Amino acid sequence: MHKLVVLASGSGSNFQSIINSVKDGTIKGASIEALIAGKSGIEAIERAKKNEIPVYTLGAEFESELIEILDELNPDLIILAGFLKKIPSEIIDKYPNKIINIHPSLLPKYGGKNFYGMKVHQAVIEAGDDVSGCTVHYVNEIYDAGKIIDQVTVPVKADDTPETLSKRILKQEHQLYPKVIQKLLNNKN
Ligand code: GRF
Repeated sequence: MHKLVVLASGSGSNFQSIINSVKDGTIKGASIEALIAGKSGIEAIERAKKNEIPVYTLGAEFESELIEILDELNPDLIILAGFLKKIPSEIIDKYPNKIINIHPSLLPKYGGKNFYGMKVHQAVIEAGDDVSGCTVHYVNEIYDAGKIIDQVTVPVKADDTPETLSKRILKQEHQLYPKVIQKLLNNKN
């Protein structure tokens, strides 16, 4: 059984799509060992509780806490799903090719420290791009700059707002992330 750990700081809709995929067999032979929450009071925690997934909530000493929790869980795959804190380099070194992230743009476009949430979609619309999308990539020391694993393109419509574009992309994220996770687990066999 492959051990998955999900890290989230927000609504956790990608986390939910991973939960659903483990349940319906889109992701096979895996269990979600824990949710590591970037802060308390987030919807992702409610989703974990509903599904009886253990929750660890990070506090002020988040770097050392994270190292300790991951040491204890020893996951096969560390899945960032809307996790806003920077992963310490000690963890990146310890888990080579085991940490992945999803980002709501066609990286390398609109990635990096200042591109998160609606800011990504705002920038795409301001630039007048007619396509955007989402990207799953490995995590390295630089925000959104690790090796790209897979991407899906999504059209940008003339009357899109950041919110409408974000919704359209999020739908694709929910398909792409489980698919990539399954592919990576297949390669581990
Ligand atoms: C997604 O758009 C993801 O690409 C980005 O953060 C958002 C998380 O959304 N990294 P959710 O918490 O999964 O709903």
